[in-house]
Amino acid sequence: MIGTDILAVKKLLEAGEVVGIPTETVYGLAGNALNDDAVLQIFKVKNRPQFDPLIVHTNSLEKVKTFVADFPPKAQQLAEAFWPGPLTLLLPKSEAISDLVTSGLGTVAVRIPNHPLTLELLSELDFPLAAPSANPFGYISPTSAQHVEKQLGKKIPYILDGGASQVGIESTIVGFEEEETVVYRLGGASVEAIENVVGPVRLVAHSSSNPKAPGMLKSHYSPRKPLFINALEEVVKAYDAQKVGYLTFKKTSPLVPAEHQRILSSSGSYAEAAKHLFAYMRQLDALEVEVICTELLPEKDLGRAINDRIRRAAVRE
Ligand code: TXA
Ligand code: MG
Repeated sequence: MIGTDILAVKKLLEAGEVVGIPTETVYGLAGNALNDDAVLQIFKVKNRPQFDPLIVHTNSLEKVKTFVADFPPKAQQLAEAFWPGPLTLLLPKSEAISDLVTSGLGTVAVRIPNHPLTLELLSELDFPLAAPSANPFGYISPTSAQHVEKQLGKKIPYILDGGASQVGIESTIVGFEEEETVVYRLGGASVEAIENVVGPVRLVAHSSSNPKAPGMLKSHYSPRKPLFINALEEVVKAYDAQKVGYLTFKKTSPLVPAEHQRILSSSGSYAEAAKHLFAYMRQLDALEVEVICTELLPEKDLGRAINDRIRRAAVRE
C-alpha cells in the first residue's frame, strides 16, 4: 500500500522487510543494510543481479563515518557542500558493511538523501538503509510513489509517499583514485558544481563497462518502446506520424500530434527538465505509439546527466 505512516515503515524495516521510500533523486527500494536477509530481498524484488552493489543511505555524517574506513578531506568538502543531496561517495568500506551490499568490492557507496520524510525515517532507525532505485532491473527509475506501486506494488508491503521527486535523476557517484576525484555516474549534482568545490574531476561516467560502477550497464533506464535520438524527421518518414511520441527540451514539433509530445522545460531550465525526464518517458511509453523520439540537451549543467540517461535508453546499432 501507499501511505505516509513513518512508524509503520519503521516497524516493517525493523522486521527485515523491504519498502519503497521517497528521495529527492528517485524512489528507492529500501531495506536494513546491516541485515543480509533484507539485502537479499532487495535483489530479489528488483530482479537485480547480486554483482551490482547497493548505495547505503543514512541521515548524518557521524553515522556515515561508521560505514567507511577512511573519509579523505575531499570527501569531507563534498559532503559539506552537497549533503543532504544528490551526491553518492564511494569510499573504502568499514567492517560494519557486509560484502553482499558492496558485491564483494572494497568500497561502499554512501549518501545522505534530501527528503524530509526519509530523513525523519532514517533518524528514527538504528541502522542505515540499502536502497537501489525502486524499478525492476533495466527499466526507467521511479519518481513518484505511483510509479513504484505500478511495478513493484505486489511485491512490497508499503511505499512511503513523499510526492514527486524534486531532482528527478539519480545521484552523481563520486570516488577518489590517488589524488584524483573521479565521477563514475553523472547525476543530480552537476560536474560544474562538484568542480567548484574540489577542482577538476575525471569523468569515467560514459564508459559502458565500468568496473567501479558495475550497475552502469547501457541497457539501464530503458522504456519498452524503441527510443531514437535526434532523428524525428527520419522516424516520421519511416513510421506513421500518429505512432510517434516526442520528448522535447523546450518546444513542440509540428511533425507529430501535440498529445504525443512532452516538453521537458519550456523555459529551458535543466533542473526542471531533469525533474520531468523519467515521468515523461513513462507517459510516452504508455501511449499508443510505436516509437519515441527525443532530442539531446546542451552538454552542460544537468544537461549532461539528462543526455546520459537518454543515451542509455536509446536504440543502438
Ligand atoms: O539517487 C540515487 O542514487 C538512488 C536513490 C534511491 O538514492 N539510488 C540509485 O541506486 O540510483 P542504484 O542501485 O539504482 O544505482 C547505484 C549505482 C549502481 O550503478 C551501482 O553499481 C553503483 O551505484 N554502486 C553502488 N555501490 C558501489 C560500489 N561499492 N562501487 C562501485 N559502484 C557502486
Ligand atoms: Mg538504478
